Amino acid sequence: MAVLLPGGAGYIGSHTAVELLNAGKEIIIIDNFSNSKPEVLENIKKITGKDFKFYEMDYADKEKLEKVFQENKIDAVLNFAGYKAVGESVQKPLEYYTNNVSGCLVLLDTMRKYNCKKFIFSSSATVYGEPEKIPLTEDCKTGGTTNPYGTTKLFIEQILKDLYKSDNSWDIGILRYFNPVGAHESGLIGEEPQGIPNNLMPYIARVAAGKLKELSVFGNDYDTPDGTGVRDYIHVVDLAKGHVNMLEKLDKEETGLFIYNLGTGKGYSVLDMVKAFEKATGKKVPYKIAPRRAGDIAACYADPTKAKKELGWEATKTLEDMCLDSWNYVKNKQ
Ligand code: UD1
Repeated sequence: MAVLLPGGAGYIGSHTAVELLNAGKEIIIIDNFSNSKPEVLENIKKITGKDFKFYEMDYADKEKLEKVFQENKIDAVLNFAGYKAVGESVQKPLEYYTNNVSGCLVLLDTMRKYNCKKFIFSSSATVYGEPEKIPLTEDCKTGGTTNPYGTTKLFIEQILKDLYKSDNSWDIGILRYFNPVGAHESGLIGEEPQGIPNNLMPYIARVAAGKLKELSVFGNDYDTPDGTGVRDYIHVVDLAKGHVNMLEKLDKEETGLFIYNLGTGKGYSVLDMVKAFEKATGKKVPYKIAPRRAGDIAACYADPTKAKKELGWEATKTLEDMCLDSWNYVKNKQ
């Protein structure tokens, strides 16, 4: 029995592929390389010493997807095939809703047809909108997303809840990621933003590498200890391992719909991140204070207690690991 990973060549997908292979699972990746490269597949094999089947295709191509289900015994699907650039989603809402929501519907419909009902969805802390309280627990209110990307996550969560209500033989895990950063310690896979990065850590790493002049710190007048935005940064390898625990829970227990925050529970400000990066790598990260970025919130971090209790999972990597591994990846690419 295999686990299917649409978008398995992407940032979170590739790290999860490694952890699933390390845990002895058989995997199948499908990817259209819209935001990844074929060499990632070779690097997953290099890291793990294991092989897997790959289909180059769009995950929303119903005919091809059916073939994948006909040719393989698929027990579970972990869906990483979502577009994820917040700014781009504002410019291209139809593309985002089509790929993320319609694509996911095609996937779920095909799974149902082939009686495969174990599904793990990559959601995001963005579904909480303006946090009702921090740290955020899974029962905090959701909604009020500020961009189409975030709204696709919210819509798919709702679709999954409705689906489970209609048929409780589905077995669904919704994982709400906080801010994934870092890269595999081998430096072979990592985050490869197209063009100028929007997210903080890839931006910092490229400033340190001299590829970008300086970091703009978006606002220093938030209601936080140093005035800059506070987030829960989580090492992508910790995050990837959370999926293995989630899958094991779905395998073990009765069916259900489970929602977990995947975060560390610690909040760091933008300036904390700059300092930590400089300390870990010995590189300078010049920055200037710039106006707030539209749609940003002051602070957001997880209460990860539920995942610890029910999944037996917790993040173990430190902020130093996150900085070093991000740097190691960017440095290797020079
Ligand atoms: C964003 C998305 C979130 C998505 C996540 C992916 C929004 C509202 N949220 O989170 O849905 O899942 O990316 O990792 O867009 N910052 C700077 N300068 C920069 C870049 C960022 O000061 O050049 C600051 C931001 O203002 C923020 C923090 O760094 O305080 C983190 O920003 P970022 O990495 O973009 O993540 P989020 O905005 O938290």
